[in-house]
Amino acid sequence: MRSTLLASLASYTGAALSASVLLSGGTIIAFDEDSNSLNVIRDGALLVTDDRIVGLYEEANPKGIRGDVEIVDCTHKIITPGFIDTHRHGWQTALKTLGSNSTLAEYFVTFSSYAAKPLYTPEDVYESQLAGLLEAINAGVTTTLDHAHNMWNTERAEAGLDASVESGARVFWAPAIDPTNGYSVPDQIKDWKKWNKRDFPNDLVTLGVAYDGWDVGAPEDTLAVAKLIKDTKPAVLTIHWLGGVWPIDSSPSLVHSFGVLNTSTAVVFSHGPGLTAAEAELLRATNQFVSITPESEMHYGHGHTFSHHIHEQAALGVDTHLAFSTDILTQARLWLQRTRSRLFDEVMHKWDIPARNPMSVNQAFLLATRQGALALRRPDLGAIKVGAKADLVVFDGRTPGMLGWADPVAAVILHANVGDITHVLVDGKFAKRDGKLTYTKYAELVERFLLSAEKIRKDFLARPLPVLAGSFFGAEGYAFYGSAKDIDVVRGQGTGYGPLFRGTGDKTTANAAVPGTKHDEL
Ligand SMILES: *[C@@H]1O[C@H](CO)[C@@H](O)[C@H](O)[C@H]1NC(C)=O
Ligand SMILES: *[C@@H]1O[C@H](CO)[C@@H](O)[C@H](O)[C@H]1NC(C)=O
Ligand SMILES: [Zn+2]
Repeated sequence: MRSTLLASLASYTGAALSASVLLSGGTIIAFDEDSNSLNVIRDGALLVTDDRIVGLYEEANPKGIRGDVEIVDCTHKIITPGFIDTHRHGWQTALKTLGSNSTLAEYFVTFSSYAAKPLYTPEDVYESQLAGLLEAINAGVTTTLDHAHNMWNTERAEAGLDASVESGARVFWAPAIDPTNGYSVPDQIKDWKKWNKRDFPNDLVTLGVAYDGWDVGAPEDTLAVAKLIKDTKPAVLTIHWLGGVWPIDSSPSLVHSFGVLNTSTAVVFSHGPGLTAAEAELLRATNQFVSITPESEMHYGHGHTFSHHIHEQAALGVDTHLAFSTDILTQARLWLQRTRSRLFDEVMHKWDIPARNPMSVNQAFLLATRQGALALRRPDLGAIKVGAKADLVVFDGRTPGMLGWADPVAAVILHANVGDITHVLVDGKFAKRDGKLTYTKYAELVERFLLSAEKIRKDFLARPLPVLAGSFFGAEGYAFYGSAKDIDVVRGQGTGYGPLFRGTGDKTTANAAVPGTKHDEL
């Protein structure tokens, strides 16, 4: 077989300029539309021409493929669709590791759009957005829905858009309309309409809208955003939906009351801890989706008590990658085990022993891929099938961690990590090849990004840490802060909580010398 491949390669010397690529010899996790399920093809081949998957074969070296075809040996590899992240804030890369013990309530006053506005220049936004999207591509995330709340002025917003175009990733870039000093909602809408006229290369970047003010915004702003959506029919609208313990509640029913839930625009609600049976029914009736961001919701304490009841209208997201994993593999794995653990607990609360497992690796895989595509109303993404976009991830099935797999879906969901990803294709082009990003200016970007991050971190760390007490923002009387019990890791006095190592990149450890809290001080 090897000699056949080499012979084929030798006969296509124009490989670098090929419009077609044959991924030959791998195990392909394809999708079968008729049965609505994953379809594993072993020792098969996948043909890409331009931006599309044009052939799927049950043999590694299919006959009759003609023309200028570059053959890429994928023997022992696992080929999956690109992963889809339905909720992210690309501009936050520069703040990485600074939120290791933040809560959502703290986030609002530390890392949120409002808090970060004074820290970023347009260049800072650009470096963070670009470095963050390349980080996502490296991790096999080929599509991102960016809730871009870097809408601080025209230049800083546009820098995020420009970096998205530069990245080569598939980005649904949804600027978050939100009035701020010097940049009013009418000005933002004017800019949005200008961006909407832009020609985006390869259609990789799609303009969307984000808006969180359905309940708390000024009525005239909300009406203006609703009108913009009805008039221009953007591909996607995305909204942070909390509810539950949170006195902020841009729920599907509220959004529906403005006439923008049941249109051609895909609406993605991020988090949704306030999910009720009625809201779930409305999501089904209008075919709109929730983005569950498992790691962020667990890290910060959003809550996601009922999210597992809406899996058929749900996809996965990363959210604020400044504080945790950027890859959807980790999100899928965490969500699978979180859901299993919770449902097992329900059995054990009845003093029973769990007999069957309530969620499968296939379901986690679908949440990470096809469900994201359906949330964006793009059935040509998130699935390997003829005619779909060639957004693909190739895993090395013979790394020490992967070695020995029989079920490729279990291998990817439960054993793979980002280091096992050999190739990533976006729109038919290699964005990562042989373990390395193909973005040619990456080394220069790294230097610029690190300078920008160091400056932002310095300004950030000069601020005092917030002390949260009493009631949540203006919500007098009914939303109070409470504290979780501290966990002990060290025997004896104190918790072993330890300092945070937030130094500015050199040997100093600014802000690190806070000792663990003693029990008797609480
Ligand atoms: C959504 O729109 C469709 C077609 O216009 C209509 O049949 C349906 O009743 C609407 N659903 C809701 C929940 O408004
Ligand atoms: C986070 O850690 C720092 C340093 O240990 C501590 O001062 C701060 O109170 C912690 N924040 C929370 C929310 O626990
Ligand atoms: Zn978010």
